[in-house]
Amino acid sequence: MHNDHRALGLAVPSTADNAVAIAKGAPVQPVTLVRPHAAARAARFFVEKFPGRSMYAVKANPSPDLLHILWDSGITHYDVASLGEVRLVARELPEATLCFMHPVKAEEAIHQAYFEHGVRTFSLDSLEELEKIVRATTWNGVAAADLTLCVRIRVSSDLSKLSLASKFGVMPDEAKALLFAARQAADALGICFHVGSQAMSPDAYAQAMERVRAAIVEAAVTVDVIDVGGGFPSVYPGMEPQALERYFETIHRAFESLPVSYSSELWCEPGRALCAEYSSLIVRVEKRRGDELFINDGAYGALFDAAHIGWRFPVRLLREPDSRAKDMAFSFYGPTCDDLDHMTGPFLLPADVQAGDYIEVGMLGAYGCAMRTTFNGFGSDQTVIVTDEPMASLYVAADERVASNVVTL
Ligand SMILES: Cc1ncc(COP(=O)(O)O)c(C=O)c1O
Repeated sequence: MHNDHRALGLAVPSTADNAVAIAKGAPVQPVTLVRPHAAARAARFFVEKFPGRSMYAVKANPSPDLLHILWDSGITHYDVASLGEVRLVARELPEATLCFMHPVKAEEAIHQAYFEHGVRTFSLDSLEELEKIVRATTWNGVAAADLTLCVRIRVSSDLSKLSLASKFGVMPDEAKALLFAARQAADALGICFHVGSQAMSPDAYAQAMERVRAAIVEAAVTVDVIDVGGGFPSVYPGMEPQALERYFETIHRAFESLPVSYSSELWCEPGRALCAEYSSLIVRVEKRRGDELFINDGAYGALFDAAHIGWRFPVRLLREPDSRAKDMAFSFYGPTCDDLDHMTGPFLLPADVQAGDYIEVGMLGAYGCAMRTTFNGFGSDQTVIVTDEPMASLYVAADERVASNVVTL
């Protein structure tokens, strides 16, 4: 019964130089590799270069280890979207400032966040939500006098890979009334938006800031905070964005030209850009059928985006010595008994890849590990800290890209 120690993960070390070393231990379950240095580097980049405050959008990857790395690297504010995230960050980082940026919240969640966890910043996109926030933060008939209320306005997601344009955001013709009403209830009034995830051009923010300008002019209210949300990209095959500095310059220029006071603040809420480079995954090929590889993680594991939205992640074969075969295009099947557990790719790997081989799938730190389930009895939380570079990076300067793990996308 106890013969297969590898099934229990006993062959996998807790730290290693790189993925090849781990694959040599022949792990039976998928192994998540984490790169604390990469997350710390991303956080320092935002802290030093974004011309305002950067708060981490916890939903992208709520790993407690990651939260501590970001905190140690200077991220003091956290965008939380649920009471679960409020409690998690309050427990892990008791000194952190939490901002509840989901525009539709349970009244009980607002109450607990305000009275038990000291949350003072809330977003909203309707009068109904404003009334909820006011009710939930009133005590003995006295309304809270210390709220920062951020009105989320609807902006386009046209320049982004994942739309966030349908569900949330007040429409332009209703923004005036909402901004006016929120101003009466707020100590500080903010305007926020989200341009969609993986915004492929800084113009996404320039266009959204024009919407902000129109809303401020129309409502004629004093605005204390402009929050440009998330959407900052990472780098994936077929998605190579401009340098993040270009995004920051565009945002800064637009912010400087808005009709807001000198004391107003600029915020952003990056999720993906802070954690995409943090994790990758080692999977094993269990079967090959022509150009289809059956691997041991998939749509219900860390590869949700590869399956459900056709996201192509970088891959590399972990074999020593390297295969000399030319690359060819493969698709993947995940381990469950479900046809939906399929990833079209194409994923480029040496043509001689076979059952028993190990593959590293890169750039899974954002919305990868966070989406894992144990459906069908699969899934593994085996994690190893590695010190090599992520397979792609927006933060490693071009002349440093000699590190062993960086692949051509
Ligand atoms: C309100 C809010 N802020 C920030 C983010 C993070 O977005 P991204 O990961 O694209 O940076 C999201 C993602 O859904 C969000 O809903």
